[in-house]
Amino acid sequence: MSTSQHAHEQYGDASNLDARIALHARFSRNTVAWFPWVFDRLTLPEGARVLELGTGPAKLWRENLARVPRSWHVTLTDLSVGMIGEAKAQLQSAPHAFTFAVADAEELPFNDGDFDAVIANHMLYHVPDLSKVLSEVRRVLKPGGRLFATTNGEAHMRELDDLSQDVVAGGVVSAFAQSDHLTDFTLETAPGYLRPYFSELTLHRPQGDPDLYVTEAEPLIAYILSVTPQEVRKDKGKVSALQRRVAQALADSGEVRITRATGLFEARAPIG
Ligand SMILES: C[S@@+](CC[C@H](N)C(=O)[O-])C[C@H]1O[C@@H](n2cnc3c(N)ncnc32)[C@H](O)[C@@H]1O
Repeated sequence: MSTSQHAHEQYGDASNLDARIALHARFSRNTVAWFPWVFDRLTLPEGARVLELGTGPAKLWRENLARVPRSWHVTLTDLSVGMIGEAKAQLQSAPHAFTFAVADAEELPFNDGDFDAVIANHMLYHVPDLSKVLSEVRRVLKPGGRLFATTNGEAHMRELDDLSQDVVAGGVVSAFAQSDHLTDFTLETAPGYLRPYFSELTLHRPQGDPDLYVTEAEPLIAYILSVTPQEVRKDKGKVSALQRRVAQALADSGEVRITRATGLFEARAPIG
């Protein structure tokens, strides 16, 4: 499958992403949910001009709507027409200054120095040419403006590989990362990518126990299927084998513990 076919299959609409976000939201023991935690890190002034790349269905804004200052000008962009359609449908009646655009992060349709902040959450590993995106981010940031970018660590969700051996050899999470992630932008590798473009770099990690403790089969199966190629999802034998394996894991210990490794990089564009 070509890269663009894959991206279309995965992100044509929000259903795959929603299945994954639902598992994180339901089975985390962290008292602070992910999107409020990310929003808390956006320490921006009144009147800030903010650009989000790869906004998806705009959960960051929907889940923090009551806290978004009305003085901010927020531009939400994504390569997927379906994602921008959904973001718009959810937010266009909000009393904030949101604007929406279908845009490729590699060629941003904005002027130099247009923004105080650029947000790129769980999307920098999708772009074929990361150095092109990072130089575009630096170009559209004001001097001293900041990039906020979330990503995963290498151990993230890897227990699901064991559970999904019958669906895809080697496990779906590893196979998905290989096919879906065009760039190896992880918590471990990100500093090497960011340092050539930005003058300061801070990694923020959520406090508390990051792991998931899953006690129900259905949301776990939905997550695994969301990262399984569509042609494999149609194979009833493989899906039944997955259901049996998940049921057995839950019967054995009452819950499936899944490692999560996530964080947010804050980086500053050089001044002058
Ligand atoms: C994993 S989702 C993350 C969505 C959202 N930022 C979040 O954290 O929930 C990745 C998003 O990046 C978008 N994307 C992939 N490649 C892109 C590109 N080159 N330019 C802009 N968006 C892109 C996808 O369409 C998808 O909506």
